[in-house]
Amino acid sequence: MITTRFTEAFGIEHPVVQGGMMWVGRAELAAAVSEAGGLGIITALTQPTPHDLVREVERARRLTDKPVGVNLTILPTISPPPYEDYLRAAIDAGVTILETAGANPEPFLDLLKAHGVRVIHKCTSVRHALKAERIGVDAVSIDGFECAGHPGEDDIGGLVLIPAAADRLSIPFLASGGIADGRGLAAALALGADGVNMGSRFLCSVESPVADAVKQRIVEGSELDTELIFRTLGNTARVASNEVSREVVRILDAGGDFAAVRDLVAGARGRRVFEEGDLDAGIWSVGVVQALIRDVPTAGEIVRRTVADAEDVLRRRALAVTPV
Ligand SMILES: Cc1cc2nc3c(=O)[nH]c(=O)nc-3n(C[C@H](O)[C@H](O)[C@H](O)COP(=O)(O)O)c2cc1C
Repeated sequence: MITTRFTEAFGIEHPVVQGGMMWVGRAELAAAVSEAGGLGIITALTQPTPHDLVREVERARRLTDKPVGVNLTILPTISPPPYEDYLRAAIDAGVTILETAGANPEPFLDLLKAHGVRVIHKCTSVRHALKAERIGVDAVSIDGFECAGHPGEDDIGGLVLIPAAADRLSIPFLASGGIADGRGLAAALALGADGVNMGSRFLCSVESPVADAVKQRIVEGSELDTELIFRTLGNTARVASNEVSREVVRILDAGGDFAAVRDLVAGARGRRVFEEGDLDAGIWSVGVVQALIRDVPTAGEIVRRTVADAEDVLRRRALAVTPV
């Protein structure tokens, strides 16, 4: 058992969280992670309407009676989804843990607190983590440069970012990005984090609702097989290297604007990758940590293995430094 401030504050058994993942964070995956003692998270905007989110949470409830969280990702877009309606749907469904990401969650905090919802805010820098602490979130999750999805623009890897955050933060926090196994959890704890948030590792699990071809590509992938797109637009995203992402990088590096790549990066194309297994249909997120992912276990097995291996690493390390 690894008990931390995070497991105690959020009432879970193991300090292992499955971060929100668009098109991936559905009931089966989230429930499997929670049932194994971690914290599984359903991604709100994967559901077409707030009402569908209520039904998805109810589906997860039928699979586990342990807490399952909901992720709300707030990104700049021309026609924003009804964020507050999704939040109210999560509250109505009885959700007590919410992961926010993408923007400052302050406008929603009063509503969430009034309903007893605890908030984990995901961010990519110490200054944003401190701001989140100041406005009253319960925990933060800090994504290093290694992460899948949006690593921000500072390019600081977890080895510095996590202890730098530990030096300044008072609330519990999770290390995120580049973690896929017990070595990663042990390292995160050693650096001062209270647990880990993993995306790519759970994307490549039995319960992850994506095509087998995607999982196989991750198993075969190395640390070199991602691209950073949208750098020139100040909205960097780490995605799998494929024909589409390489073309996007080429166009933007040559001075193209968002309009020049809009069709290539359309969400509907990325969705086809996951649903049909056509790996070059569009862009899809994965982190450099795919270098460490070599199988497709159940999500429960990932939680159990990560914790058992971390305990083993910590024990062996402790023995190695104990004078005889
Ligand atoms: C396929 C995929 C989709 C993701 N979608 C989201 C999302 O919608 N919102 C979000 O906050 N993070 C999203 N993420 C980021 C993860 O929640 C997590 O922060 C990240 O994967 C951690 O890095 P790792 O992949 O190295 O573990 C996504 C990650 C992946 C792999």
